[in-house]
Amino acid sequence: MKIKWGVIGCGGIADRRTIPGMMLAENAELVAVMDANKEAAERVKEKYNAKYAFDNVEDLLAIDEIQAVYIASPVFCHKEQAFAAAKAKKHILLEKPMALTCEESQEIADVCKKEGVKLAVGLMMRFHSYHQEMKKIIEEGKIGDIVSMRGQLTCWYPDIPGNWRQNKALSGGGALMDMGIHCIDLLQYISGLQAKEVTGFAGTQTFQYNADDSSAIVMKMDNGAFAFVDANFNIPDAAARCRLEFYGTKGSILAEGTVSQVEGGNVDVLISDDSLGYDASQDRNEPVPMKLDVTFGNMYTKEVESFSNAILNDTAPAIPAEEAIALQKIVESAYSASDDKQTKQL
Ligand SMILES: NC(=O)c1ccc[n+]([C@@H]2O[C@H](COP(=O)([O-])OP(=O)(O)OC[C@H]3O[C@@H](n4cnc5c(N)ncnc54)[C@H](O)[C@@H]3O)[C@@H](O)[C@H]2O)c1
Repeated sequence: MKIKWGVIGCGGIADRRTIPGMMLAENAELVAVMDANKEAAERVKEKYNAKYAFDNVEDLLAIDEIQAVYIASPVFCHKEQAFAAAKAKKHILLEKPMALTCEESQEIADVCKKEGVKLAVGLMMRFHSYHQEMKKIIEEGKIGDIVSMRGQLTCWYPDIPGNWRQNKALSGGGALMDMGIHCIDLLQYISGLQAKEVTGFAGTQTFQYNADDSSAIVMKMDNGAFAFVDANFNIPDAAARCRLEFYGTKGSILAEGTVSQVEGGNVDVLISDDSLGYDASQDRNEPVPMKLDVTFGNMYTKEVESFSNAILNDTAPAIPAEEAIALQKIVESAYSASDDKQTKQL
């Protein structure tokens, strides 16, 4: 059995990543695409051999055979389109961030519940083979109790006149909301810990737009560990490392380049094999990391297959809205801490 899909918004992520992933999914079939730009919709329809292309949501939602929609329009469109899809009884895979604010995201979750449709959120990096393996290592206790973590995602995103993502009113936020959200999600998901307090900075230091091009936040997790997230739009791609780091009482996991739109990167695991006595000399030998070995897959295929299976088997989606709403609350609280200058002046 295959779930029949419609795609709303045929831009960057849909055309470059998610639809190609959907084409490889065993239990999914692309039926229709929609974009406010009719030419984009037509082009994507041809490219992926869909049956229909539309320039408005109503026409796509009127197609009876469509059972699920993937919403990958700009963030300011999400709420209205998700409401319309839920009312048309279509299950929804909604891109992150779910909506402009936590309140809007909650309203979307509520309407989906009321209409009896499933809702999942596009935090596809959870499906990265390395991230799954890292989660397993931590669950098995191999690096002990987590005491510190760091997630980093950066790119170069200069001023583009009229760009929705660079306008906070249309995107809900800049580097932190757009990219930091993946880092926070991965830190929580992989470690199994939840953030309980957050503070930090977000601002625009390099470009002219009003969304943050720089952000750095610190979270206190429910076990007392501290976690750092830095997300920037103003670091050249060639200078990026996109690190993900977990430090525990018995070892660490250090990843580079796994926080990414494509499966890849490199992961080192360092496990302490000494007696954990204090080494007063701190005369450290070069540690020998264990390389994690995984078989890479396609995160988008896994994302679409997972949600299609949840629909086919009537089970809970792997990435439920509640978790994405809690995540957005962390980002909003960090913005508010930054705006309120809840720091000590020096
Ligand atoms: N999961 C990820 O890692 C990831 C990566 C990139 C983007 N995203 C998310 O996907 C969404 C889209 O981002 P993008 O980078 O593809 O943006 P984009 O600007 O590249 O593409 C957006 C597309 O939506 C179209 N559009 C504009 N208004 C529309 C409307 N009212 N209805 C339908 N389509 C409309 C545009 O013509 C464009 O083709 C955002 O929520 C973004 O945060 C997620």
